[in-house]
Amino acid sequence: MWGGRFDAPPDPRVQRFTESISFDWRLLDADLRVADAHAAMLRARGLISAKDLAAIRRGVASIRRDGEARKLVFDESLEDIHTHVEHWLRERVGAAADKLHTARSRNDLVSTDLRLWMQDAATALLAELRALVRSLAKLAARNVDAIMPGYTHLQRAQPVTFAHVVLGYAEMLLRDRERIRDAAGRANRSPLGAGAIAGTTLPITRASTARALGFSGTLENSIDAVSDRDFVAEFVGALAILAVHLSRIGEDLVLWSTTEFGFVAMSDAVTTGSSLMPQKRNPDVAELVRGKAARVIGAHVALLTLQKGLPLAYNRDLQEDKEACFDAFDSTLASVECLQVVFESLTVRVDRMRDAARDPALLATDLAEALVLRGVPFRKAHETVGRAVRTAETGRSTRFAVPGLTASEVDVILDPARSVRRRHLATSIDRVRGLVARESEWRVGARSDKA
Ligand code: ARG
Repeated sequence: MWGGRFDAPPDPRVQRFTESISFDWRLLDADLRVADAHAAMLRARGLISAKDLAAIRRGVASIRRDGEARKLVFDESLEDIHTHVEHWLRERVGAAADKLHTARSRNDLVSTDLRLWMQDAATALLAELRALVRSLAKLAARNVDAIMPGYTHLQRAQPVTFAHVVLGYAEMLLRDRERIRDAAGRANRSPLGAGAIAGTTLPITRASTARALGFSGTLENSIDAVSDRDFVAEFVGALAILAVHLSRIGEDLVLWSTTEFGFVAMSDAVTTGSSLMPQKRNPDVAELVRGKAARVIGAHVALLTLQKGLPLAYNRDLQEDKEACFDAFDSTLASVECLQVVFESLTVRVDRMRDAARDPALLATDLAEALVLRGVPFRKAHETVGRAVRTAETGRSTRFAVPGLTASEVDVILDPARSVRRRHLATSIDRVRGLVARESEWRVGARSDKA
């Protein structure tokens, strides 16, 4: 396809095998922004005329409009989005289009486009993540007094509040927010000007295009700039950890909505019926959130495998980065959005939780700690209370008799509500709310800086 070197078109099967337009059309907006910035730089360096620049700008604007109106026609023989943009430009402004690719290669272009796409993707995901954390904070605020058993090894362990559990989720997601911002921030450097591998002999400037596109700087080494996709692996790695977090939340919801637990009930909006059993109400959304994590983990593994042992510099293998990245992003974003709906419409069955936390044995640790306050070494206290629990379990006594504590002291300690108050649970709600309120902490580089 490229100019004078070839006599024959590619085999149609090869064309289908090598095309990327079926997925890299998502880079259209980025590619057009790069075209504008690159053309302006070429003009500033005297490499194209003012007339050419005006024509390119006009053409780019027209492509953008047609893109928004969904009027652009894709053609597999044009391979990828970069070739399409040049082609559409030529249709609109003729000869000036031939000058756009001056001092530029698809190798530096594709990496630039994907980095720009990532800034917007991260911003969109963080907005949804923020909304999810906000709904968790609201749910926690409504349930600061809802006592439930906390589980270790999936065995009832100690009483906690439902708010405390929900705020635990919020903390996980707040770390995901940091990871996503970090990854997007590190990706926010411009490869443009690296060319195919070794830059260009033409007198371009790299800093000006980087600045115009909202990058925080340029990548130093041209070979590295075109060959590395660590930024994709890192971003998708952050998504994978987020997706794993969401899968754990999904699993809790599945478990808690069973008849056996009955701690929560999910609304009709997020559950489905069975095609066979009329009574069923299945937690499909929570299950799919759990399942989607597999895809995102798969994408992360694919991206690492893609680069493992790959020689420098650009290799066509790297085209495989985009589907993995887009799919991981779409799956994670959708999971975040849908979990938000789940939490906003969740019924919390405080009575069921309280009943499950009623077993005084869950406060055995509190009894041991009361003995510690009386000077009993912890190991000793642990043993004393352990014996009391065993006696109670074997039914030899209806109440806990703990040597060293009076019956009324034991009664006070065995109140789950007091226990959670003594342990200061759910105090992080203000912290979470504060972070939700600070909008700037949910944004990343590029365009959002100027917004
Ligand atoms: N579609 C290609 C990709 O996604 C763009 C870069 C192609 N470069 C090349 N020399 N064939 O990686």
